[in-house]
Amino acid sequence: MSDKKRTLVTCALPYANGPVHIGHLAGVYVPADIYVRYLRMRGREVLYVCGSDEHGVPITIKARQQGCSPQDIVDRYHKIIKESFEGLGINFDIYGRTSSKIHEKNASEFFRKLYDDGKFITRESEQYYDPEAKQFLADRYIVGTCPKCGNPGAYGDQCEKCGSTLSPEELIDPHSKLSGATPIKKKTTHWYLPLQDYEPWLREWILEGHKEWRTNVYGQVKSWLDGGLQPRAVTRDLDWGVPVPVEGAEGKVLYVWFDAPIGYISNTQELLPDSWEKWWKSPDTRLIHFIGKDNIVFHCIVFPAMLKAYGDGYILPENVPANEFLNLEGDKISTSRGWAVWAHEYLKDFPGKQDVLRYVLTANAPQTADNDFSWKDFQARNNSELVAIFGNFVNRAVVLTHKYFGGKVPPCGSLLDVDKEVMSEIPALKASIEKNIEEFKFREALKDAMGIARVGNKYISDTEPWKTAKTDMERTGTILNISLQICADLAIAFEPFTPFAAKRLREMLGSVLDWEILGRPQILPAGHEIGEPELLFAKIEDDAIDAQIARLQTIKAEIEARAKAEAARQVTPQKEECTFEDFEKMDIRTATVLEAERVPKTDKLLKLTIDTGIDRRVIVSGIAEHYTPEDMVGKQICILANLKPRVIRGIESHGMILMAKQNDGKMRFVTPQEAVNNGAQVG
Ligand code: MF3
Ligand code: ZN
Repeated sequence: MSDKKRTLVTCALPYANGPVHIGHLAGVYVPADIYVRYLRMRGREVLYVCGSDEHGVPITIKARQQGCSPQDIVDRYHKIIKESFEGLGINFDIYGRTSSKIHEKNASEFFRKLYDDGKFITRESEQYYDPEAKQFLADRYIVGTCPKCGNPGAYGDQCEKCGSTLSPEELIDPHSKLSGATPIKKKTTHWYLPLQDYEPWLREWILEGHKEWRTNVYGQVKSWLDGGLQPRAVTRDLDWGVPVPVEGAEGKVLYVWFDAPIGYISNTQELLPDSWEKWWKSPDTRLIHFIGKDNIVFHCIVFPAMLKAYGDGYILPENVPANEFLNLEGDKISTSRGWAVWAHEYLKDFPGKQDVLRYVLTANAPQTADNDFSWKDFQARNNSELVAIFGNFVNRAVVLTHKYFGGKVPPCGSLLDVDKEVMSEIPALKASIEKNIEEFKFREALKDAMGIARVGNKYISDTEPWKTAKTDMERTGTILNISLQICADLAIAFEPFTPFAAKRLREMLGSVLDWEILGRPQILPAGHEIGEPELLFAKIEDDAIDAQIARLQTIKAEIEARAKAEAARQVTPQKEECTFEDFEKMDIRTATVLEAERVPKTDKLLKLTIDTGIDRRVIVSGIAEHYTPEDMVGKQICILANLKPRVIRGIESHGMILMAKQNDGKMRFVTPQEAVNNGAQVG
C-alpha cells in the first residue's frame, strides 16, 4: 500500500438534472465506496468528497420543459440523489452542491486568479443565437438532423443515437430548442484556457509518469495528446451558472466543466474550513478521482491544467480509475430517454436489499469494457451466490453451533488435512483482495471475498458435521470452530462490498471489524457466545423480477413511440431539380378502384382492378399493410398511367398508385379533393 499519509477520494459530481441510476453506481460510486471502506478498515486517513453538479445546460432545459426554475430542478434532484447514496450505504464525508454560496465564491476567485495571472486568452467567435428568444444557444439548445445517421433529434454537441460528437455547424436543418427558430450567427467573446501550452507537461506527467493507470484511461489521454490540444472555452453565454467575475462579461457564466471540478475543493472547504488545505496541497496526500469514461478528459487533462495554471501547491491525482459504461438489458442507459434503473426506485422496490445491488454491480462492473445489467442475472447472482453460498454457509455454521453446542464456539481439537487446507486458503485470498482493491480491481476483489465463502461452504459440505455429530462430538466441534472462524473472516472481508450484511453478521457472531485479524486462527475464542441465527440474504422470487422486466417493457414501448413520432416529423430533403419536360413525360391521371384482392402468400401486395377512363387495367400495389381490399373498392385515386408494365408475382402490373409516404412508414393514397371524371390528367 502507498506510504502516503492520507487519501482524498472524490466521486464525479452527478448532474442534478435527474436521479442517479445503476450506471452511475456501477461506474463511480460503488467502486469508490468499496475503496474508501477498505482504506478505513485498514486504519487509513481518508476524506470522501462528492456533491451535486448543479450548473450546465441540461438543467436549464429541464427547467424550461417543466415550467419551473433551474433552482427548483436542482433542489429536487439534489435531495433525491443525496438520499439514494445514503440509502445504499454510500456515506460521503460531505455531499455538497455547486449552487452553494461557498462554491460560487470559490469558483469565481479561482477564475479571477487565472485571469489576473494572464492564464487565459480571449477569442471572438460566431456562435448560434436565437433571434426570437434573444439568447445565445449553448450546444444542447440546438437540435437538428445528425449528418452521420439521420437522427432528427441530434444535439449541437452530440448525437445520442449514433454517439458521434458534433458541432452545431454540422447539423442539418438546425433549430433552436427554445423557440424553434432557425438560429443565426452572432459574434461573442469568450475566455479560453490554452491547453496546448500544457501539453509537454501533461505528456511527462501522465504518459511517462503514470503508465500504471488503467489502459482505457491512459489510452484516452494519449489519443487526446496525440491529436493536439486546442484552447478550450471556459465561459458560456448563459444565465445559469457562476457569473464570470470580470468587467464586460455580462450575461456570461463559467462553463460547467470549469466550475464543477472546483466543486471538489469547495465541498472540502465547506466541511473543513480550517484544514482543507492539507487535503489539497500536501505532498502527503494522494488524490484519487473516481469517474465514468466520459469524464476522463476533464479529470486527466482540463482540471489538472487548471490546477497547474493556478499553482499554489495543488496536488494532482495519483490515479483516475475510470470505468466504462454499464448497459441495461442490452441498451445504453439514458436519463433523457428514461432507460434506467433508478437508485431511489430500487430502494423502494427492494427494501433491505442494498447489498444485493452493490454486489451485482460490482460482480458485473464495467471495469475494462462496457458491461450489461439484466434483471435475470441480478436474480441469479442473489439466489445462487449470495443466498446459496455466502448465506447458506453462515446459516449452517450458526444453526449447528446452536444445535450441538448451545450457541458457544466449541474448542478446536486436532486438525486433519482438510482442516489445514481450508485454513491455509484464507490468508491467500485475503492477500489477493488487498492487492486487487489497491489496484482498483474491485470485481476481482469481490471474487476473492466470495472465494472465502465458497471455501467455507465446501468445507462444511465435505466434512458433514451433522453426520459426525452422531458419533464424534469433538470432531464436530472442530469443524464448527473452523467454520465459525471463516464466518468471522467473511464479516470482515465483505465489509467493503456488502456492508449491511457484514455488519449484521458481526452482530450475530459478536465479532469485530479488524482487517488485520482476517485469516488468523481462533479469532473467535472457544467458549465465545454467538447470537441467534438470522438469514443474511433472502431468495428473490420471479414475481419481483417479472415486475421489473414489465416496467422496462413499458418504458421501451414509450421510447419507441416517441422515436416513431420523431421520425414522422422528419422530412426527406428536396430532390435534384427537374425540367417541365421531365415532368410532362409522366402521365398522371385519376382512376377508380373497381375490385381489390390480396395477392396470395404476400403481406404487402394488393391486386387492384381500376377504371382509368381510358381502359380497365390491373395494378399491383404494395399497400396491403395500410389498406384492406374493402378499404380500396370504390375509391378514387391518382395513378402514374404510363409506367412501363412490370410482372410482380406473376401478375402484370400497368402503372403505379400515387401514395403520400411519411418517414415513419405511414402511407395514404392521393385522391382528388372532389370527385372528378376518371382519366382526368393531373399536372
Ligand atoms: N456532472 C458530471 C457528469 O455527470 C461530472 C462532473 S465531475 C466534476 O458527467 F469533476 F466536474 F465535478
Ligand atoms: Zn447520429
